[in-house]
Amino acid sequence: MTEGMVGLLLIYLNGEYLDYSEARLPVDERGLQFADGIYEVALVWDGQFIDLDRHLQRLERSAAALELKLPFTRSEIRAVADELLHREDPRRAAFYLQVTRGVAPRDHRFPSEIVPPTVIAYLKDAPLDQEGLAHGVSAITEPDLRWLRCDIKSVSLLPNVLARQHAAARGVREAILVRAGVGVTEGSATNIWMVRHGSIVTAPESNWILSGIVRGVVLELANAENLPVAERFASQEELMQADEVFLTSTTSFVTPIVQIDGRLIGDGTPGPVTTRLQELYMQRLSRLAHVAD
Ligand code: PDD
Repeated sequence: MTEGMVGLLLIYLNGEYLDYSEARLPVDERGLQFADGIYEVALVWDGQFIDLDRHLQRLERSAAALELKLPFTRSEIRAVADELLHREDPRRAAFYLQVTRGVAPRDHRFPSEIVPPTVIAYLKDAPLDQEGLAHGVSAITEPDLRWLRCDIKSVSLLPNVLARQHAAARGVREAILVRAGVGVTEGSATNIWMVRHGSIVTAPESNWILSGIVRGVVLELANAENLPVAERFASQEELMQADEVFLTSTTSFVTPIVQIDGRLIGDGTPGPVTTRLQELYMQRLSRLAHVAD
């Protein structure tokens, strides 16, 4: 299959591999009515899954937080992922996995009878923003209006959707969320970092942020290079005065942010620390893809 064709062709739904047009769910599916579910997005790079185990581990944590019993073991869901990869064979894609509390007559309480969770998985297109990776992207700041369990990767994403839409309406890539009384938490779908006076700063693991898989990897890379890192919440003022700002996520890797709210960060070009971490991250991706061959 060619790169441009990846996505929405083959859908894994509750044990079956279906054509997109055949994959259907009842209207009283709890994901649809209550956003009562969790998800993961993992990268396929050079035809290989990257850090799939870390994503599955995070899915298990999200499931436990929602008292949702996953209907598969890690190796069983890995087999599903492998089967999709085998059948579609993309070089680069995003693996989307969603688990919700199943189908039951609408009632806020968990279904009283044991109903099987709904499991959806498919590969989707993951276009690379070469321009943004090389020259940086712009962002806006937005108030963080989310609930108090942002550590759970829940499909309940309305505040994230609104924030990202506000960014898009302003013609920029990301909305950087600022929580009143806390500081800069993360982006609408990314983790946010700044470099100030030579130190790398990112929000600590907590209920205020999603513990990004790329965040964890970048922390490891920075530590291995002996780059000083402080896990703390930055204020909006500090962010605006940072020497460098960047974002991380599974599909945007390490992307420089060179303008926020219309103001240039540093000299408006990607800084040396961001560039170095991006380089290390991309090298690790190639290394992992080759090891798995
Ligand atoms: N977003 N913070 C939020 C709120 C996110 O939704 C994401 C991921 C991240 C970065 O996490 P990771 O490094 O594990 O991708 C941080 C995914 C990609 C999405 O919703 O599409």
